[in-house]
Amino acid sequence: MLSLRWVLNHYIQIVIECSTEQSFNKAPNGSTIPNRQMATDTFTITIHMVSSLDGIIAKKDNSVSWFEVSDYYEKGVSGQDPETFLKTIDCYVMGARTYEHALELSKSYGWAYGDTPTIVVTNRNLPVERKNIELYSGHLDKLVSERLQPRYRNVWLVGGPLLVKEFVRLKLAHQIRLTILPIILGEGILFFDQIGTEQALHLQDVTAYKNGMVELCYEIKT
Ligand SMILES: NC(=O)c1ccc[n+]([C@@H]2O[C@H](COP(=O)([O-])OP(=O)(O)OC[C@H]3O[C@@H](n4cnc5c(N)ncnc54)[C@H](OP(=O)(O)O)[C@@H]3O)[C@@H](O)[C@H]2O)c1
Repeated sequence: MLSLRWVLNHYIQIVIECSTEQSFNKAPNGSTIPNRQMATDTFTITIHMVSSLDGIIAKKDNSVSWFEVSDYYEKGVSGQDPETFLKTIDCYVMGARTYEHALELSKSYGWAYGDTPTIVVTNRNLPVERKNIELYSGHLDKLVSERLQPRYRNVWLVGGPLLVKEFVRLKLAHQIRLTILPIILGEGILFFDQIGTEQALHLQDVTAYKNGMVELCYEIKT
């Protein structure tokens, strides 16, 4: 059976070579996880999404089997050890619907985000079964300035599109890493539909992988 943790690792391993800095400094004193390795010296919020070629990030039935790609691209590169890379992420942020989906999948596949601190943005009192998960309701700029920036360096915003769009609109994220899988899904939830604002990007890197995935890394211009 497909493990969601495996899926997460599978995609994260392909962004390693796209990483611009690998300084692995120690966490600041405020971190909830001492000695966690980090990818950069500076505070960075990275949006990471996995998409089909037609820009869809979730099927209507929310099934995840489309993550399993079976393509082969001879000139592509292979990823590195995903566990090492996962240790460089010191906090995940996600929207409530993404959390609910991850909770549902965790019943079959385990919790995908491990022991890394995880903040769920929600206005509801959602169930929390792990010590490393916190709920947050309030302004997103305060989430960043009061909760994230003092405690973490390498923050990954892992979806979904509603929350990602708010971070982009409010100019709170620094980087977008988009993994495009060799598939057209035809229908489902789009990554960026009608975001309602124009945002210039700087292409930092493009990597094609042996399994046919393409990783686009953009800096979000200020
Ligand atoms: N392919 C990928 O890489 C990927 C990654 C992540 C998710 N997904 C998929 O995306 C889907 C969920 O995405 P989604 O866009 O529907 O929902 P989402 O962004 O995960 O969650 C949105 C919810 O977060 C809460 N929220 C609170 N404050 C908010 C704010 N300021 N801005 C935005 N949301 C706020 C609201 O829920 P409350 O009512 O609780 O306040 C809102 O309904 C799922 O199907 C999931 O599987 C795919």
